[in-house]
Amino acid sequence: MSNRLDVLNKKKEEALKGGGDKRIESQHGKGKLTARERIKLLLDEGTFEEIGMLATHRSTNFGLDKQKFYGDGVITGYGKVHDRPVYVFSQDFTVFGGSLAEIHAKKIVRIMDLALQNGIPLIGLNDSGGARIQEGVVSLGGYADIFYRNTLASGVIPQISAIMGPCAGGAVYSPALTDFTYMVQDSSFMFVTGPNVVKTVTHEEVTSEELGGASTHSEKSGVAHFSVENDLKCINDIKKLLSYLPQNCEEESPKYPYNGKGSNREDLNSIVPENPNQPYNIKDVINLVVDEGSFYEVHENFAQNIVVGFAFLDGKSIGVVANQPAFLAGVLDIDSSNKAARFVRFCDAFNIPLLVLEDVPGFLPGTDQEWNGIITNGAKLLYAFCEATVPRVTVITRKAYGGAYDVMNSKHIGADMNYAWPSAEIAVMGAKGAAEIIFRKEIQEAKDPEAKLAEKEAEYAELFAHPYNAASHGFIDEVIEPADTRQKLIRAFDMLKNKVSHLPKKKHGNIPL
Ligand code: HXC
Repeated sequence: MSNRLDVLNKKKEEALKGGGDKRIESQHGKGKLTARERIKLLLDEGTFEEIGMLATHRSTNFGLDKQKFYGDGVITGYGKVHDRPVYVFSQDFTVFGGSLAEIHAKKIVRIMDLALQNGIPLIGLNDSGGARIQEGVVSLGGYADIFYRNTLASGVIPQISAIMGPCAGGAVYSPALTDFTYMVQDSSFMFVTGPNVVKTVTHEEVTSEELGGASTHSEKSGVAHFSVENDLKCINDIKKLLSYLPQNCEEESPKYPYNGKGSNREDLNSIVPENPNQPYNIKDVINLVVDEGSFYEVHENFAQNIVVGFAFLDGKSIGVVANQPAFLAGVLDIDSSNKAARFVRFCDAFNIPLLVLEDVPGFLPGTDQEWNGIITNGAKLLYAFCEATVPRVTVITRKAYGGAYDVMNSKHIGADMNYAWPSAEIAVMGAKGAAEIIFRKEIQEAKDPEAKLAEKEAEYAELFAHPYNAASHGFIDEVIEPADTRQKLIRAFDMLKNKVSHLPKKKHGNIPL
């Protein structure tokens, strides 16, 4: 037996070395951790159970039969994060550049199937040169097997991707199908076609970093939800994200005991400036409403006119969607609608109640927006809120104008409780714009048109630049003192915790994609 154990141990030892010391050194030289080091950091100590450690490829093309590495370029298995199970795959760049081929793909597919069957989150740590060129079409098939499972698992288990090295060609579509994508700054990139092909086809000169680095995708395209400094931060942030999420769509969102600061937050009373055109930072409101230090922003640098993220409220996980008056006056546009819609759908899929903080002057006007489909894209956010059945509470802090009032989780589209601060203005549009339209003739004909405009503006503001008209119609459940917001929200979400709401029976809806 001891001989047999020696054989086993030797094989394991070899597997643990991946592509060998030289390649590991090269990986470290690029500021990157190895696939195994990443898993070790991610999982609670001693919990990792590896699956398929001794798997190898079976290709004979281009002398591959003479190059075999245990694991075939990906480490797969399961373990625990903060005592809760997760499945993980971690591509090993030291073995064939982490390239994906038949066996590599089979290993990923196997843990995806297990994760889905058992209702356990899936984390993919990507670091790969793409399809293994020597294996040809089986690599393409392997990718498609993964895409298919990403899609089947969508909305059933949380799927998180980290891009910690190259990710090019069709490989980008697996992360794109998952719920959240992290990118490590300076060592990762994602693109469908690289700089050389771009140059040939469009004659553009662009670096990998400009084309598909972490800043590009976290600021311009929105493909990445998080841009992080290094591997360690990436893994710590994934662990943090998991703490807000249930294991699957059948579970409630997590709740932890909260012993932090009390419920009265006086500072909220002075956040909204007297002048309605003056900006303030909605993140100050969020941080004063939720449990101290618990707000974890998603898509922080993309479409900053809307803020989305997770937080705890009295220890219970919630999703926050908030217009940001400090950026483009908090206007809704194509990017912000897409960003918020996807977040709302994630929260709804995973039973995470939604808090909406509203201060929105309307949709962004202009040819750029219209020609690029603000109608269809704005409708995505509308659709996402309309079909969300989780508890939904809105607080209107200031402006709630026009169609944006309807879209931002109004009671008319299924919100459960809507509050307004005394500073709220709920109207078809701002008082000046409204006066200019409805009293145009009167203003033009007046001796002093400016004075007339001011008079009519004041008249309109008197009628609508407050929350009481909407409250009189029952569109607002209560006008509250800002300092009481946290307490009101804790009570409202507690009251709604057993909410049951079903959509009409259907195969699936047809969201305006
Ligand atoms: C096989 C690969 C590989 C690949 C890298 N390697 N990519 N082996 N198939 N796709 C191997 C290299 O031969 C090398 O092996 C090791 O990995 C490290 O690669 P280097 O080039 O030395 O590393 P680096 O300089 O860091 O460059 C990394 C890289 C580059 C940018 C990823 O290797 C590269 O451009 N690779 C090709 C990328 C590509 O075109 N992939 C196919 C995309 S198409 P040794 O033995 O020297 O360590 C695609 C279609 C998918 O993926 C479609 C799905 C639907």
